[in-house]
Amino acid sequence: MTRKIIIDTDPGQDDAVAILLALASPEDVDVLGITSVAGNVPLALTTKNARIICELAGKPDTKIFAGCDRPLRRDLVTAEYVHGKTGLDGPDWSEPTMPVQDQHGVDFIIDTLRSEAPGTVTLCPLGPLTNIATAFERAPDIVDRVQEIVLMGGAYFEVGNVTPAAEFNIYVDPQAADIVFRSGVPLVVMPLDVTHKALVTKPRNDAFRALPGAVGHAVAEMTDFFERFDKEKYGSEGAPLHDPTVIAYLIRPDLFTGRNINVQIETQSELTMGMTVADWWGVTDHPPNATFIGDLDADGFFDLLTERIARL
Ligand code: BDR
Ligand code: CA
Repeated sequence: MTRKIIIDTDPGQDDAVAILLALASPEDVDVLGITSVAGNVPLALTTKNARIICELAGKPDTKIFAGCDRPLRRDLVTAEYVHGKTGLDGPDWSEPTMPVQDQHGVDFIIDTLRSEAPGTVTLCPLGPLTNIATAFERAPDIVDRVQEIVLMGGAYFEVGNVTPAAEFNIYVDPQAADIVFRSGVPLVVMPLDVTHKALVTKPRNDAFRALPGAVGHAVAEMTDFFERFDKEKYGSEGAPLHDPTVIAYLIRPDLFTGRNINVQIETQSELTMGMTVADWWGVTDHPPNATFIGDLDADGFFDLLTERIARL
């Protein structure tokens, strides 16, 4: 069955690949809209990058809404050192021409959840959770109407990538993450524990590059740029393709395994700010609030990505 989704994102090369995967898979996901948020780079750039990617996919009719330009209660932290100055460094992009919708991203999320049947819209956050938390705070009536939230964020075994304790998306807006993790909405979480197993090795990137048409080539170039940072940092064979795991899960949940556990967000200590405290081993009696994914069939994941991107 086709799932209606809203992609909430801060592109970002890996966000870009997630958007491409979704737009290439209309039989699985119906992208009602894309909401941008400040994260990897400031909001003006994440919004522009979302437009660039929809045009690349040949889907300029996709509805894009600009969301929040800063975290709820902290200063914005960005990641140009990973994604480049534009957030989408790699290929030479031309200026996008498709429009941004007038409505604010948060209002779009609220209105969509109110107008669609309850339990039929899935939220797919790929960046800091500011837009989702703002929507939940402003319109508590929508919380129970969300089918599921499938998000990229956090880590347990891999601990942190932006600080020793925290993953970037959660660290940038821990208060927002706390609201979402306490919301009671069914959550599926793609932490670094799984995304660090989704590595774009050279043969996998060569497979993207070899696809006919511009999209596979652009994906390969984005990954080439993105991976220099992680290869150096982790000594791995390629960059982790974090955000596409969210969309892949909606299409092929069988590629992933995890545990239904309690996950809480650190919002007090500066030392461990934004840590996802995950009760993986079941050492507390705190009730589960998330399916925390730990592993994936990486070959199956890359086969799916390559097959779908080839369609664009
Ligand atoms: C997450 O942070 C961003 O840099 C990526 O786009 C991904 O969403 C990984 O920690
Ligand atoms: Ca992202």
